[in-house]
Amino acid sequence: SSLGVEDAKRLAAYTAIDTHFPPNAKVVGIGSGSTVVYCVERIVEKKAKGEIPSDTVFIPTGFQSKELIIHGGLNLGAIDGYPVLDVAFDGADEVDSALNCIKGGGACLFQEKLVAQCAKKFIVVADYRKNSTALGLQWVQGVPIEVVPLAHARVRQDLLEMGALTATLRLGGKAKAGPVITDNCNVIIDAHFGPIADPAALAQKIKMLVGVVEVGLFINMADVAYFGNENGSVTAKF
Ligand code: A5P
Repeated sequence: SSLGVEDAKRLAAYTAIDTHFPPNAKVVGIGSGSTVVYCVERIVEKKAKGEIPSDTVFIPTGFQSKELIIHGGLNLGAIDGYPVLDVAFDGADEVDSALNCIKGGGACLFQEKLVAQCAKKFIVVADYRKNSTALGLQWVQGVPIEVVPLAHARVRQDLLEMGALTATLRLGGKAKAGPVITDNCNVIIDAHFGPIADPAALAQKIKMLVGVVEVGLFINMADVAYFGNENGSVTAKF
């Protein structure tokens, strides 16, 4: 029997929570996207069984994540009140062999990176499609970059001059006539570079551009990544 993508996401998320949720956790980060939904599902189950302290605080990485925490009946905190986290769980768009990630497919990369940076452990959960050897091989939508709206045209120009094959402003499609606006009131540029040989160097160069708030390249941040596989097994990358 072969697992579908949703089952693979659930498998990775449950494995990560069962392995890495500290029994005495004080502050825990919750990422954004469709895979962390299963992390919260598992956390709520564990809490109902009394396996999670009643005063553990959960820190969101955006609007969707905040709603997940609230609707799960968990204690909601904010990153500016709790800048040190025991652990954070999050999805990813692509993970390479060194655990560098592309993130921001859901436009939440800034708060995700802030929370990941504050966490003593950063655990990535994903399905088999995200397990890659080099960034830009699997995730062909480009590197998401959060930009102050007024700077979007200049930053796109800069990215093209830097060697991006495309650099496009992310639009709302049928849902909105105009750009996607992030939880921080900025816009997203998706810049396609092809397979990225040196993600750390690229991340630094992009971050230096005037108007760039954050880059969806997470370099050297993840401690472990779990991938649910089609055959029902889980791959852990350290
Ligand atoms: C949100 O901006 C992203 O970084 C998500 O964490 C990432 O896109 C993974 O989402 P899925 O779990 O839905 O694949």
